[in-house]
Amino acid sequence: MHRVLSGIQPSGIPTLGNYLGAIRNWVALQDTHDCLFCVVNLHAITGFQDPALLRANTLEMAATLLACGIDPARSVLFVQSAVSAHARLAWIFNCIARLGWLNRMTQFKDKAGRDRESASAGLYVYPNLMAADIHTYHATRVPVGDDQRQHVELANDIAEKFNHDYGVDFFPRVEPLILPEAARIMSLRDGTRKMSKSDPSDQSRINLTDDADAIALKIRRARTDPAPLPHDAAGLADRPEARNLVAIYAAITGAEVAHVLAEHGGHGFGAFKEALAERLVSRLAPVAAETRRLLADTAHLEQTLRQGAARADALAEPIVAEAERIVGFLS
Ligand code: TRP
Repeated sequence: MHRVLSGIQPSGIPTLGNYLGAIRNWVALQDTHDCLFCVVNLHAITGFQDPALLRANTLEMAATLLACGIDPARSVLFVQSAVSAHARLAWIFNCIARLGWLNRMTQFKDKAGRDRESASAGLYVYPNLMAADIHTYHATRVPVGDDQRQHVELANDIAEKFNHDYGVDFFPRVEPLILPEAARIMSLRDGTRKMSKSDPSDQSRINLTDDADAIALKIRRARTDPAPLPHDAAGLADRPEARNLVAIYAAITGAEVAHVLAEHGGHGFGAFKEALAERLVSRLAPVAAETRRLLADTAHLEQTLRQGAARADALAEPIVAEAERIVGFLS
């Protein structure tokens, strides 16, 4: 059985994009893989986070993952900072990865923007920490969105150079699992941008904590073009907003896009949006309710996370201790 590791940032309220793109796949992977999932708060602080908000967001993300169906009895669910092996291995990897490799990372360029000089050093070495998350457990499968593919490749480059430099065969190759469902869910205001919890406009996204009214309103106000829905997928080609709403409908109902268009093609967006809102509400309302229930008892939630961290630590410790021995650290 392959071991899966994935991480998600606690940088805000999780969105429908996180659910359809990542979380839903994680839930399914539990049936076929040995899974570890972590809330990556070390990655989150590569950009300043208000401490109280970071704490709240970390708990909220953990509660959401549980509410969506991550099962702590089958999977290891934990917060990254609680397992010190990640940071120890990340340091070793900082010394393995070459500046030239990091300079090619497109996410750094996007996130640092024009003012590279004032980006944190942590943002620059972010991919090394992600490689450490994976290799700390000898995970071999990494479910991620397409935007993280380059980071997974870097994790392989790091493993290969470590193995080569130290003459060992210690870190295995990893494969990204870019699942078909990892379709990118786009902003409701701009179909060319990813739906993101960091978008300044709350109207651009469905939060997993939104109630029925908020969901209906956001879908009703979602940007569309004036044409009716096309009869086939080809008709969505130059219509990013229409394509996004149809993709969301298809993902949430488990239907093919062709199927959705066979049913709704030729109709205006008014009726389609009503139907979409209804589907979203019936799927997401129970998740929101369960998240609220879990967040009402943070002591219990924190206990669940501590147990997850203890299990993660037990898996990580021998592997990272061996990496340190290989490097020549005294034990
Ligand atoms: N960088 C990932 C993202 O932004 C999050 C992440 C951190 C991750 N560590 C990971 C994903 C390890 C997979 C494996 O989506």
